[in-house]
Amino acid sequence: MAVKMEQMYEGKAKKVFATDDPGLCIVSYKDDATAFDGKKKGTIADKGEINNRVTNHLMKLLSEQGIPTHFVEELSARETLVKRVTIVPLEVIVRNIAAGSLSKRLGLPEGTKMGATVLEFCYKDDALGDPMVNEYHIAAMGWASAEELETIAAYAFKINEALSLYLKEVNIELIDFKLEFGRLSDGTLVLADEISPDTCRFWDSKTREKLDKDRFRRDMDDIEGAYREILKRLIGQ
Ligand code: TMP
Ligand code: ASP
Repeated sequence: MAVKMEQMYEGKAKKVFATDDPGLCIVSYKDDATAFDGKKKGTIADKGEINNRVTNHLMKLLSEQGIPTHFVEELSARETLVKRVTIVPLEVIVRNIAAGSLSKRLGLPEGTKMGATVLEFCYKDDALGDPMVNEYHIAAMGWASAEELETIAAYAFKINEALSLYLKEVNIELIDFKLEFGRLSDGTLVLADEISPDTCRFWDSKTREKLDKDRFRRDMDDIEGAYREILKRLIGQ
């Protein structure tokens, strides 16, 4: 059993602690919510617990389907033991239906079906507003090798298929989502970070009601209710 040691890092939604095992960390999910690169701030009651449990549930599902992840063990309501990784500084975004920044950029009404799944990369840098980049920028800056990027893209599409199918069964449409990958000490790429209502657009399949962080970003009501609804549909509690 890994012993929790000093805090290594505090992000906007999570803290990361070292353990007595150099290959393992503990992630602790916060109720803090931010949007627009941290410019909008708030809290969402119980979000930390919900995102911890939802992420672990989905990571387990994905690892059963052959996606390597950083998940090791859920330790408590908001803490999880994960493999220590160096994060690839990219936000990997998969889009099934037009929404959010794609809708703005291309002038497509939210909810528009597109001809194919869209994969985007953004450079993780809040000060720069996480700018969108392509494979040439990624190669030029050395953020990931061509081989790593190929693996990331293949995992992203496979994750999209697995999650979309799974969520459909509980009447959730997976509109789009963001992934992050990390490298283990031997260079192996694994899925890291979280998969939660903070990082995905989940719409009710029938009503198309938003059940994710867009409720916070857009000052809508019952944000907590939406997060709880996702937990209930996925885990039944
Ligand atoms: P976007 O439409 O605002 O670019 O967001 C695309 C998806 O990525 C959406 O599911 C929300 C998620 N996302 C994050 O997880 N973190 C972020 O910082 C942003 C901007 C989006
Ligand atoms: N990561 C973004 C931020 O804090 C939040 C978002 O829009 O999801 O600002």
